[in-house]
Amino acid sequence: MRRLQRVKSVLKQAGMAIYKHVHPIDREFWQVYPTINSIEGFLVSPVQERWLFRTAKSLPDKAIIVEIGSFKGRSTCSLAYGCRGTNKHVFAIDTFEGNDIDFTYRGFFEEFLYNIERCGLSAYVTPIQERSSQVAKSWDNPVHMLFIDGSHQYQDVLTDFYDFFPHLVPGCIVAVHDVVETWPGTSKAWHKHIKHHLRNIGYCSTLAYGFKKHVANN
Ligand SMILES: C[S@@+](CC[C@H](N)C(=O)[O-])C[C@H]1O[C@@H](n2cnc3c(N)ncnc32)[C@H](O)[C@@H]1O
Repeated sequence: MRRLQRVKSVLKQAGMAIYKHVHPIDREFWQVYPTINSIEGFLVSPVQERWLFRTAKSLPDKAIIVEIGSFKGRSTCSLAYGCRGTNKHVFAIDTFEGNDIDFTYRGFFEEFLYNIERCGLSAYVTPIQERSSQVAKSWDNPVHMLFIDGSHQYQDVLTDFYDFFPHLVPGCIVAVHDVVETWPGTSKAWHKHIKHHLRNIGYCSTLAYGFKKHVANN
């Protein structure tokens, strides 16, 4: 019995020693991850949720994040948790109706709203229930982060990028999900076009990202 207690105490001390070395932002992430993980979605977990959370955290106060393709809110909440306690804001653009080509789910707006609400993130998220190309026509705000995960068709991904491109501030971070051979549309859009407008390209599993160059249209 005493031996078991000793083992438990040693394990607890070891756990605390490791915990002390975890970066505070990661500590915060691991606290909210179980809630994020209760939302259905398509991210490569947990690395992409963590990447979205950390990236939102790194943005300046009042930053505007535009997400195209929110589904039930898994990526939205990863971003919005990174905005808590700040004036940063996520605009979540989705028809919430899927599309006929690469997404067969239908009618999940209520579930999206419920998830945002139960995570306590409603103050940080504005859902826009419309096609992304429609939203872009009247969009009139500077964007500090653009996350593209809507239609995965080549032309649609390009349209999402180029429609919002004029609104991206220099240094804006652009991320595209599903840059992988199994998604030829997103992959081709990224490699043939999008990445050439960005600098400091990086990858987090199937998520590709880069920063808008400071010289316009370069
Ligand atoms: C792969 S899911 C997004 C997954 C989400 N980011 C997550 O982490 O769970 C793609 C979403 O894009 C939406 N979508 C597809 N085409 C769209 C369009 N043209 N405009 C707006 N949303 C669209 C679908 O309704 C669907 O919710």
